[in-house]
Amino acid sequence: MFSNLPNHLAIIMDGNGRWATSKGKSRSEGHEAGSETIDQLMDSALEIGLKNVSLYAFSTENWKRPLKEIQAIFSLLDDFIDKKLSTIHSRGIRILHSGSKSKIPGKSTSQIDKAVRLTENNTRLNLNFCLNYGGQEEILNAFDRVIEKRIEEKQSPGKKLSQKEFEENLYTYPLPPVDLLIRTAGEQRVSNFLLWQIAYAELYFTETLWPDFNRSELIQALEWYEKRIRKFGGL
Ligand code: IPE
Ligand code: IPE
Ligand code: MG
Repeated sequence: MFSNLPNHLAIIMDGNGRWATSKGKSRSEGHEAGSETIDQLMDSALEIGLKNVSLYAFSTENWKRPLKEIQAIFSLLDDFIDKKLSTIHSRGIRILHSGSKSKIPGKSTSQIDKAVRLTENNTRLNLNFCLNYGGQEEILNAFDRVIEKRIEEKQSPGKKLSQKEFEENLYTYPLPPVDLLIRTAGEQRVSNFLLWQIAYAELYFTETLWPDFNRSELIQALEWYEKRIRKFGGL
């Protein structure tokens, strides 16, 4: 269907709150509708043949939200894994987590660990949940990990850091760089998402709110991507 698909698609799933407000519903109901969109997106991604998809589900800045909303988001995640894990696994999807585990409620941490462990040998589609994820925090964490390893392995701390060694310590390793970044709900900003990995990504913004983002919206974005001439600094 496509001659040129992004090897790594990343999505900032924004607009759940506005979708809910526009329908007179609670913000939590907006997140619930958003989780149904994730379910449909998995089907579309498999059908289209995407290989790596990263979803921004909860940022390091989202802890500023009211506790009730935070609890609703993590409880939706727990339910999502309860309901969908066996289908995800049987369809060959590998679940990955990018982000820090600190602060994530214990139940959700075990749910994520369970999903990551069960699906670790699947190869059809890598589905990377960015949860308690922040791009700046990821970069600092990668430096910390490099320093720790150098101390453990008694290497010289002054050794020059290569791009390869740095990238091996990012949360997203071994996923490739992002080719296409989609943000729903109209804002044209990056909000601390995959800062290192989007260096040469094509950026696609749509007004559509995340709960309304469907297969045909995804196809539109991929068709737009197919027409981009990517130069990576060359001619
Ligand atoms: C995105 O939707 C989901 C998360 C950040 C968890 P929002 O909750 O940000 O929705 P808006 O931006 O308020 O509409
Ligand atoms: C980005 O959306 C985070 C996620 C989609 C998880 P936000 O709604 O938190 O971003 P800002 O606050 O509009 O930048
Ligand atoms: Mg938002």
